[in-house]
Amino acid sequence: MKWRALIFLLAIPAFCLGFGDGVREHSLREAAQASGILIGTAVRPAQLSEAAYASTLAREFNMLEPEDVLKWETVHPEPQTFDFSQGDEIVDFATRHGMKVRGHTLVWHQQNPKWLTEGKYTSSELAQILEKHIKTVVGHYRGKIFAWDVVNEAFDELRPGKLRSTIWRDQPGIGLAASGSSYIERCFRWAHEADPQALLVYNEAGAEVVNPKSDAIYALVRDFRQRGVPIDGVGFQMHIENLRADVASISANIRRFTALGVQVQITEMDVALPVDPNGNPRPEDLQQQADIYREVANACLSHPGCTAIQTWGFTDKYSWIGWHSKHTQGAAVLLDRNYGAKPAYEALRDVLAAGRR
Ligand code: XIL
Repeated sequence: MKWRALIFLLAIPAFCLGFGDGVREHSLREAAQASGILIGTAVRPAQLSEAAYASTLAREFNMLEPEDVLKWETVHPEPQTFDFSQGDEIVDFATRHGMKVRGHTLVWHQQNPKWLTEGKYTSSELAQILEKHIKTVVGHYRGKIFAWDVVNEAFDELRPGKLRSTIWRDQPGIGLAASGSSYIERCFRWAHEADPQALLVYNEAGAEVVNPKSDAIYALVRDFRQRGVPIDGVGFQMHIENLRADVASISANIRRFTALGVQVQITEMDVALPVDPNGNPRPEDLQQQADIYREVANACLSHPGCTAIQTWGFTDKYSWIGWHSKHTQGAAVLLDRNYGAKPAYEALRDVLAAGRR
């Protein structure tokens, strides 16, 4: 056989295994199998028709989460209309590929439709609207969505440890504004009634480390657990900026929450890098980014109660960081714009393959 023919024959299986697109050896999903940890990513249904997007998603992840299409503005576009078409597409994809689905999100101050925010509803009307929303959406996906971000980002950005002022809490709120976190408790109870099996999670930004915000969430979760309010987990979003992550503090935070008997899930990880006008990062930053993914994953795997690592998108082609930072930052996720593996991908896969310690 001519040497050229031999190389060609050897190259065919290598390409089929994924060598051809820069992703080598086993996938993240395979690497995660030994420890049983969930490895997930946020997904946009519009991209599912792109072959490289869909095949990478199914190969690399065992969990996914709709990035936007289960938010109010999409799923509940008119007072009497629920639109599950895009959410269903994602759930169908997950079912076909044996993946779990996280639901995001039932109660948030952003991405709400105008009919709701400008509707001038009274507190008792809002309570009815919210109960119906939670029960309809969770009910629609009962047995299909295993975990829900019931409430997202309820704590304030600027007033450490204080609840945010929102349509649900006190503007005008669902009628429980005077009693602190009662409105959050009510939401968890409604979600539990709609699907008693679902894992109910409180999800937050900027509470990954031990700080006044995570202290306040800790107090809330401890109180809920003591009083039997159905809360099963805490989601740390893990949007990391400026290449700074205090991993010792993240680890201590995971430890104290899991000690309360709730799961911790990393729900929206990305590590934004400064990029040039063409969207390209510096090589040394890619290495530092890889270290952060490695160390955060390590922190999760070293606590048995940390059950999921999820990234906010998986290809830089579609990550939200670009427009969110007005294109000064980007390159925040595991694969580049051509689905090639970045150092962060290799680092995460190595940690997953090493399993729990
Ligand atoms: C972002 C999405 O990625 C964007 O597509 C959307 O336009 C805005 O929201 N915290 C959250 C997510 O909980 O829902 C946000 O997702 C990112 C910050």
